[in-house]
Amino acid sequence: MKRVKTVLTAGLILLIAIQFIPVNSNQDVQIKATDLNRIYPVPLQVQAILKNSCYDCHSNYTRYPWYSNLQPISGWMASHINKGKKELNFSDLGSYPLRKQQSKLKAIINSIHDGTMPLVSYLFIHKKAELSETDKTLVINWIEKTKDSLSLLKKE
Ligand code: HEC
Repeated sequence: MKRVKTVLTAGLILLIAIQFIPVNSNQDVQIKATDLNRIYPVPLQVQAILKNSCYDCHSNYTRYPWYSNLQPISGWMASHINKGKKELNFSDLGSYPLRKQQSKLKAIINSIHDGTMPLVSYLFIHKKAELSETDKTLVINWIEKTKDSLSLLKKE
């Protein structure tokens, strides 16, 4: 019994201690010139879908729920955001070379087709972020159209 108490106390102290690990929040104030919406004409519906389902991890604008202030949740979220942004950041899309933009747009179609995005662990908490069939079609159709006109929109 004494051992259980010691372990629980140690656990509690550890939990309190990790609350002091700082995490930078991912919330830009301004919209960058390289933002997806600044470089391509994105239909409002598509913007809303991406914002709702993808921007938390793939842009500089994460919406933070109250529990995100608690460690280890904040650390776990920050790691998803860092990894997600490294692969694809809608706020920086315009700074990618044209080829990379094209390959990222293709990767988005693949991820939606395969159902790998948004991450399952995220959907578990954010049920509303799940893409409906209509959402998927809207995003994919828009990308198909945009991909073809990319070279006209922007010269490298
Ligand atoms: C909870 C965070 C999170 C959300 C929400 C999320 N992603 Fe991701 N995404 C990641 C992470 C992390 C990676 C890095 C690879 C991995 O771990 O699977 C990634 C990788 C990707 C890649 C791969 C890039 C490449 O070049 O292969 C694409 C494309 C992508 N995400 C698209 C999306 C789209 C589209 C949405 C919205 C429908 C979305 N993601 C929502 C976290 C997220």
